[in-house]
Amino acid sequence: MILGIESSCDDTSAAILSGTQILSNITHTQLIHESYGGVVPELASRAHIEYIVPVVERALASAKIRPDQLDGIAFTQGPGLMGSLVVGTSFAKGLALALNKPLLAVHHMKAHILSHFIEEEGMTAPSFPYLCLTVSGGHTQLVIVHDSLNMEIIGKTIDDAAGEAFDKSAKMLGLSYPGGPLIDQHGQAGNPHAFSFAQPNIADLDFSFSGLKTSILYFLKKETSNNPEFIAFNLNDLCASIQHNIVEILIKKLKKAQEITGINCIAISGGVSVNRYLRLKLREWETENTALSIHLAHPKYCTDNAAMIAIAGSFLFEAQRFSAQSISSDPKLVW
Ligand code: KG4
Ligand code: ZN
Repeated sequence: MILGIESSCDDTSAAILSGTQILSNITHTQLIHESYGGVVPELASRAHIEYIVPVVERALASAKIRPDQLDGIAFTQGPGLMGSLVVGTSFAKGLALALNKPLLAVHHMKAHILSHFIEEEGMTAPSFPYLCLTVSGGHTQLVIVHDSLNMEIIGKTIDDAAGEAFDKSAKMLGLSYPGGPLIDQHGQAGNPHAFSFAQPNIADLDFSFSGLKTSILYFLKKETSNNPEFIAFNLNDLCASIQHNIVEILIKKLKKAQEITGINCIAISGGVSVNRYLRLKLREWETENTALSIHLAHPKYCTDNAAMIAIAGSFLFEAQRFSAQSISSDPKLVW
C-alpha cells in the first residue's frame, strides 16, 4: 500500500495504490495561473502549501485507508519547479518520519513512463523492453524502457518540449493557458491540411519545435495584417493544422526509433499523450503494421497525477530502493 505525492508543477496530487490498483487519486489543479499565460512558480508553491494536507487527507479518506496501513511514501523528487517540489518532498519526509515508513524518491518523467502499469479495465500493460514517447510540458523524449528501473533516452528535444509547442502556438492564437487541450478541442472541427508550417530537419532521433513556432508567428503576422479577423475566422483550421504539424514531427521520429531498435511494443506518456489526433494517428499506424502493439494510457494517468508516482514508487519499494531523510528536491534531477 503506497501513498504517492506529486507537486512538481501546478498540480497538487495524492493517490493510494494497493498492489497495482489505484484506490484513490485526488488532484487539485491550480487555476490561478490561467490569467498569467503560464505557471508562476511562486504562486504555485504557495498553492501547494495550502492544498497538500487536504489533498492527502482526501486521498486517504476516499481510499478508506488509515496512515498506519501504508507500507511506503512515494514523492516526486524532480525534475520540476524547486518551490513546488520542496512542498511535496518536505511533506513526504515529515510523514514518513512520523509514521516510521520507508521513503521512495520518484523521478517525475520515469513515473509518466511507468503509468502504464496501473491496472485499468480493458487495458494491458506494455511488456519489456518497450519504446516510450514521453511528451509533456517540460520534456519530449524517446526512451527504451528495458525494465521498471532501467531506462535509456535515445532521443530528446533540442529546444521546446511538445507541450510547450502546443501551449506557445495556442498563445499566439489568443487561447488561454494551458493551450494544448484547447488546440485539441478546436482541431477536432478543423482541416489538418488547411495550412502548412515548417517541418524541422534534425539529425538522429532528436526533436525541434522552435522552427515551427517562428513559422506560425510570421504566418499569423502576415495574415492578420491583411485581415485582423483572420484568426477568429480560421481558428479551427489553424488548430487542426498546427496539431497535425506537431504530431507529424513526433510520429516521424517515433517510427524512425522503432525501425532502428526493432522494438514493436510502443507506448506514449505525458500530458500531450492525451491528444486525440496523436492517438488517432498512432492507431492508424498500428492498423497498417500488425506487428506493433501500441499502448495508450488512460487519459487520467497521462497529465500530472500522483497515481503514477505511487506506481513508480511501488517498483522502488519492490527493489528496496529506499531514500534517507537527508534526501532533497532536485529541479534538474538526472535520469
Ligand atoms: O505531463 P504534464 O501534465 O505536465 C508536465 O509534466 O509538463 O503535461 C502538460 C502539457 C501541457 O503543455 C498541456 O498543454 C499538454 O500537456 N496537454 C495537451 C493536451 N492535454 C494536455 N496537449 C495537446 N493535447 C491535449 N489534449
Ligand atoms: Zn508531467
